[in-house]
Amino acid sequence: MRNVTAENITDVFKGYMSNEMDPRMREVMGSLVQHLHDFARDVNLSHEEWRTGIAFLEGCAAIETEDRHEFILASDVLGLSSLVDMLHSNADATSSSVLGPFHVSGAPELAVGGDMKRHFGGPMLLAEGVIRDTDGKPIPNAEIDIWQTAPNGLYASQDDEQDTFSFHGLMTVGDDGRYAFTTVKPVEYTVPTDGPVGDILNACGRHPWRPSHLHYIVKAPGFKTLVTEVFPNDDPYLDQDTVFGVRNDLVMKYEEKQAAAFPDGMVLSGNVSDPFLYVNFDVTLAAD
Ligand code: BEZ
Ligand code: FE
Repeated sequence: MRNVTAENITDVFKGYMSNEMDPRMREVMGSLVQHLHDFARDVNLSHEEWRTGIAFLEGCAAIETEDRHEFILASDVLGLSSLVDMLHSNADATSSSVLGPFHVSGAPELAVGGDMKRHFGGPMLLAEGVIRDTDGKPIPNAEIDIWQTAPNGLYASQDDEQDTFSFHGLMTVGDDGRYAFTTVKPVEYTVPTDGPVGDILNACGRHPWRPSHLHYIVKAPGFKTLVTEVFPNDDPYLDQDTVFGVRNDLVMKYEEKQAAAFPDGMVLSGNVSDPFLYVNFDVTLAAD
């Protein structure tokens, strides 16, 4: 096509795609460019605004490292990561929620009943639950990868004061599907704002806060891997999570219990003298 116009450029783009190309790629690229062109036409995008967009992408690329995933963070605060999660969530299983950039592979083994709080201050939380299939049957030997921030609101990879794997643990449940561990009550924290994503949040008049949460990746042979989070029901940011990760079935009550109610069978059993918090969160996995 020689006479390309603002009106026909989208169809011209689609006409340039080969008939031999992968059909799914054709669908995705055609729709992506349709929306991109419609967006530019809708807002009458100026050259300066186009340059700002390119500078944003270049800024993300410039600070991207193994530990800093600014493009993913951009997807998170724009709601894209959560939208993709929800599009592929299984209605009978526990909801999935954002992975975020702070998961670390190779976490040390944490026995059922183990402790991640160690010497850290802050309220103790005992979290437990059962990993089940959609019929309610426990899934033996499921694996649960757990991570969270320290009481200062920082993940280990953001904080020189913490060991690489502090507040990270990998637990394999027994035949009863039950997991349990003690930790410190997670705190609300801000996503990183010192890069281009911080500029977007600022420009939109948005705050960078996430409600406090525990992260889980739950895996078992024959089941879909679930990436999810658990939130306490009294967190002030539940209704304004900057990465759109909250789902009703992930919001749990953290009950206050007296030290005498601390159960047996935990690493800290017999050594707890202060009241503690307790959350029961069962996880349902969908079959693969
Ligand atoms: C997190 O929960 O770790 C997280 C999720 C998305 C963006 C930043 C952090
Ligand atoms: Fe997090």
